[in-house]
Amino acid sequence: MRLLEEKIISEGRVLSDQVLKVDSFLNHQIDPSLMNEIGKEFAARFVNEGITKIVTIESSGIAPAIMAGLYMNIPVVFARKRKSLTLTDDLLTASVHSFTKNETNEISIAKKYLDSNDRVLIIDDFLANGQAALGLVEIVQQSGAQVMGIGIVIEKSFQKGTEKLKELGLRVESLARIASLTNGEVQFINDKVEELV
Ligand code: G4P
Repeated sequence: MRLLEEKIISEGRVLSDQVLKVDSFLNHQIDPSLMNEIGKEFAARFVNEGITKIVTIESSGIAPAIMAGLYMNIPVVFARKRKSLTLTDDLLTASVHSFTKNETNEISIAKKYLDSNDRVLIIDDFLANGQAALGLVEIVQQSGAQVMGIGIVIEKSFQKGTEKLKELGLRVESLARIASLTNGEVQFINDKVEELV
């Protein structure tokens, strides 16, 4: 998605060979009009899948997921990373280990917000090693619902996440695909479709 790539080039900061900082529009301050375009793009890519619900994880997945939900006219559920005071029982849970942060979180969604008839689109901001997405897949599958696809805002294609999800037979649609972050530069994998536009 060209608009997103341009935003990454103009505002992103390469912190290391592994980490891209995009705090000015995605992970801290949020650009609503960019999120609007992102939501529209996810809705277009998954229009034929009969999606009934979007599942994401707090906090940075929520903004793009909400905009996709608006365009698809379906509810958005986010997995919590901490136990809520009011969300005490009847939970679907999975363990998610972050290699970046070297910590493990138990993530959860209330059972009542997913059922076996749901056709779910999972959305997240970053795809790195895929642990968050795999945890969400596990939760959706526990409910008996079907994972129809995974929508990612920024995929770091040089890490293992995409490969792991595709090995499970899942469709992954990433709006920006980063081939490398070496020498302080962002190198994208450009899809043919984008080159033709
Ligand atoms: P994984 O889920 O794909 O395995 O990712 P990993 O454990 O490596 O990442 C943990 C957190 O760091 C996730 O956010 C993820 O979105 C984020 N992250 C991974 N790589 C990058 C990167 O290059 N840049 C930025 N800005 N974030 C990255 P989180 O802890 O869930 O945070 P948040 O959603 O509350 O913002």
